[in-house]
Amino acid sequence: MAKKKIVVTSALPYANGSIHIGHLVEYIQTDIFVRFLKLTGEDAIYCCADDTHGTPIQLKSEQLKITPEKLIAKYSKEHQEDFKAFHIKFDSYYTTNSPENQKYAEFIFKKLKDNGDIYTKEITQTYCEQCQRFLPDRYVKGECPKCGAPDQYGDVCESCGTAHSTTELINPRCAICGAPASKKSSNHYFFRLSSYSKKLDKWLTGNKMLQPEIVNYIRNWIKEGLQDWDISRDGPYFGFKIPGEENKYFYVWLDAPVGYISSTANYCRDKKFKEDAYWKKPAGEIIHVIGKDIIYFHYLFWPAMLMGSGFNLPKYIVTHGFLTVNGEKMSKSRGTFFTAREFLEKFDPQLLRYYYASMLSKKMVDIDLDFKDFQDKANNELVANIANFCFRVLSFTNKNFGSKIGEIDENKRLFAEILEKAEKAKKCYADFNFNQAVKEILAISSAGNKYFQEKEPWKMVKENEEEAKKVLGTCINIVKVLSIVASPVLPFFAEKIQSQLNLPDLEWDDINFETKNHEISKAEMVIRKLESVEIQKDIFPLDLKVARITAAGPHPEADKLVVLQIDLGKEKRQIVAGIKKYYKPEELVGKNIIVVSNLKPAKLRGIESNGMLLAALKGEKLVLLGAPNSSPGDQVSAEGAETNKAQITIDDFAKVKLGVRDKKVLYNEKALKTEKEEVTAEIEDGAKVS
Ligand code: MSP
Ligand code: ZN
Repeated sequence: MAKKKIVVTSALPYANGSIHIGHLVEYIQTDIFVRFLKLTGEDAIYCCADDTHGTPIQLKSEQLKITPEKLIAKYSKEHQEDFKAFHIKFDSYYTTNSPENQKYAEFIFKKLKDNGDIYTKEITQTYCEQCQRFLPDRYVKGECPKCGAPDQYGDVCESCGTAHSTTELINPRCAICGAPASKKSSNHYFFRLSSYSKKLDKWLTGNKMLQPEIVNYIRNWIKEGLQDWDISRDGPYFGFKIPGEENKYFYVWLDAPVGYISSTANYCRDKKFKEDAYWKKPAGEIIHVIGKDIIYFHYLFWPAMLMGSGFNLPKYIVTHGFLTVNGEKMSKSRGTFFTAREFLEKFDPQLLRYYYASMLSKKMVDIDLDFKDFQDKANNELVANIANFCFRVLSFTNKNFGSKIGEIDENKRLFAEILEKAEKAKKCYADFNFNQAVKEILAISSAGNKYFQEKEPWKMVKENEEEAKKVLGTCINIVKVLSIVASPVLPFFAEKIQSQLNLPDLEWDDINFETKNHEISKAEMVIRKLESVEIQKDIFPLDLKVARITAAGPHPEADKLVVLQIDLGKEKRQIVAGIKKYYKPEELVGKNIIVVSNLKPAKLRGIESNGMLLAALKGEKLVLLGAPNSSPGDQVSAEGAETNKAQITIDDFAKVKLGVRDKKVLYNEKALKTEKEEVTAEIEDGAKVS
């Protein structure tokens, strides 16, 4: 039989946002697996790409006034740098906006069409005349057709939980421009997924490698009857044009998984074999790693597309759960949302690889990154057990034996114990039970530590140097085994240790006790202890209060300024503001305004100002921020962030960026509000607040 050619993939990240530590669960999981396959001599490659098409990318590039090509190029670069920093190594990292991907998308489309699996049908959808585009679910808002709740998206009502379509919303509005939306009909291409029901069911029940809990509920979907799949979108759309059409494109989810094949093609570009070697019989083997949110696409649409166009079906689709941090959904304000880059600023990437490995199994369960546990694992397991053992052995050999070992202590029981643990780890890696593999790694270094401790070579070396040297020879072999078994999880660590051992590029077959009469290099500690895992909360620097204006008068020395007396509930203050051009003093009295109460007092043209009011300015227009239903002294906070109460200077204030959208005032995307209401600014989006 020909040697298997294995292609392993992770889901393709969207090219309109940064990689965060949630994504990294998947890319680290896949990377560990591929490194393991390579280590054991399999012919395996890791292929991935950026997912570059679709409405969000189109719209974001319009907003930024750059071409979509420029936008996706920026993210492609960023993603690849981030993956590299976490030691995630692809054989091909490509893009779905490539000629190969277009070729394969068209090829599969044509095959399906020739099979009679594709038909066209007029459908009516929600349309915005103003933007001249059809509006997908998340781009329409209106009242729920069931319960009447206002401000609901076009897919599901958050108030009553009922699913609906965009065309069912009452008083729909375009979420992009705010204009009332209308309906319009257009011709769409559909893929007859239903005609694959039987074949899909057969594959799902026949493939014992798939996670049974997932297979069960996919089979239920099939039983309930599969809907045909709308695979076209009208322009403007960033994607591939459907052959023979002027303004219709493949829906992003049609060409996205095709990216798995085209990324393989990119890898095979100057090779003797082509992508078919991985994707077709006799030797091809396909393994996908995905998150639980994209099951439908990978267990139904994609296998049906593969079946219809002559490719192999996936052998595994390993599906992981979602990341939570400290037991909750990641959140900016709690300080638990980290992009890959933010994480790197604080922590060694190896710690995350180790932690995730210690949590991952072939079960679709959510994974919690608990920072206390993270610190404990890093310090007690990775540093105190694994890394310290290696350092102790290597540095002892440097110091006492001129870095040389000769014969070793032929302790057969110890050898058997360690080789057995390595063998167990191998099985665990192959089964995606990395948490168990990590346990075996720890058990190996514990056994090594115990042996070292019991033999007390630091005493022995004085009485029987030859015996002590043999003990260290055995320990060097344990370090070697450890470095190999740990290398899928900790490739950087393994590489450093193997270079200190003077045994570079070891493979799984090098797991043995045969290293004798050997000279090592200098020992160095590769991983540091983690002193603090304190995570920063999101702090809002301004102590804002609602104030009522009790008196207003002109400033004797300055035309543009007014002097205001304000009531802050428990105290009264005087402030000076440059708003004379926009408000008459009598208009101001009685108004509720928003005041920065922790600003250092200052004199403005000779008159003391103890605080500053906030206003929004756009072009020639200025409005005061307001909270008409709140009381003087009420606290204004940025939703979810903690308020800083300490005094700030005007320079500190200048650094705080506040913006206006939908008449709300936003700090880091969080609305300013009192206990009773959101702060308002009666002015267009994009106004500056100061
Ligand atoms: N572009 C699609 C996939 C197309 S595959 C042909 C997509 N992209 S994504 O960027 O949103 O997600 C990429 C992968 O990261 C998905 O498998 C997703 O499940 C995973 N994760 C995204 N956020 C995650 C967590 N918070 N936790 C764990 N995995 C997460 O979906
Ligand atoms: Zn619009």
